[in-house]
Amino acid sequence: MIGSAMLHAGVMGWPVAHSRSPEIHGYWLKKYGIQGSYERVPSDPSDFETDVHRLRDSGWRGVNVTIPHKEAALSLADEATPRARAIGAANTITFSRSGRILADNTDAFGFIENLKERAGASWRREAPAIVLGAGGAARAVVHALLESGARTVTLANRTQSRAEALATAFGPPARAVEWAGIGEALAGAGLIVNTTSAGMDGRPPLDIDFAAAPADVIVTDIVYTPLITPFLDAATARGLIAIDGLGMLLHQARPGFEAWFGVAPQVDETLRALMLAP
Ligand code: ATR
Repeated sequence: MIGSAMLHAGVMGWPVAHSRSPEIHGYWLKKYGIQGSYERVPSDPSDFETDVHRLRDSGWRGVNVTIPHKEAALSLADEATPRARAIGAANTITFSRSGRILADNTDAFGFIENLKERAGASWRREAPAIVLGAGGAARAVVHALLESGARTVTLANRTQSRAEALATAFGPPARAVEWAGIGEALAGAGLIVNTTSAGMDGRPPLDIDFAAAPADVIVTDIVYTPLITPFLDAATARGLIAIDGLGMLLHQARPGFEAWFGVAPQVDETLRALMLAP
């Protein structure tokens, strides 16, 4: 930090009103006594690049980037981390002292940190990890699983061609199976991840039959509104370990906060409670 100058960061999206990031960063700024701000920045896609440059030129430290700017954020960056390049999208931008734009993707990090925190070493990496969905979130999760040593990643998506395209993009050990065949694919699984938007508040739930899943499988959802999705509820009803997606949201915020404000923040119970407050 230079002297007592105020440090500025924020989140860019279109729309951006729904973003929970200001609550997370606001909590940490207060907790660590940092003289900084974190603001919502609405940015129309046609103005995105100009807006990023404007923030950089006015001395901001960086921004989170959400829908629909994640691919554009990667394209306009001067440098990108290997994980952002592998995922093909960025959610975190940092402006260097010399004005260079550095792009990162922390979604895969957030996913793995949540899994580590909640399931510890109990995830069986040698057993197939099943990923439901084939959108941008699935891409981050598949990257995270492969980086963490998953021996096989099995992809299933309602629109099968998208699952096949994703499996091809990553190559073996990622492979696609038919959506209708998920039930059988669960036999022997070590991990089952929902990355689809099904089950989110106001949307129809996924109808998954966990009957064939092994007793020690870990089931997790990246949806966190509601905290316990019908998917997690069905897993718990069968006695399986179920991990909610709130931790992924909280942990993915850590690298940006550290880069911009110079403190490595902790995800604590007070923050979790704050995010769950009505
Ligand atoms: P994101 O980039 O956030 O992952 P996305 O690209 O819109 O968002 O992907 C949403 C995912 O949820 C897709 O895999 C989608 O399946 P399709 O490719 O067939 O559209 C999946 N999805 C959404 N609603 C679903 C539902 N009711 N049942 C099954 N899959 C669903």
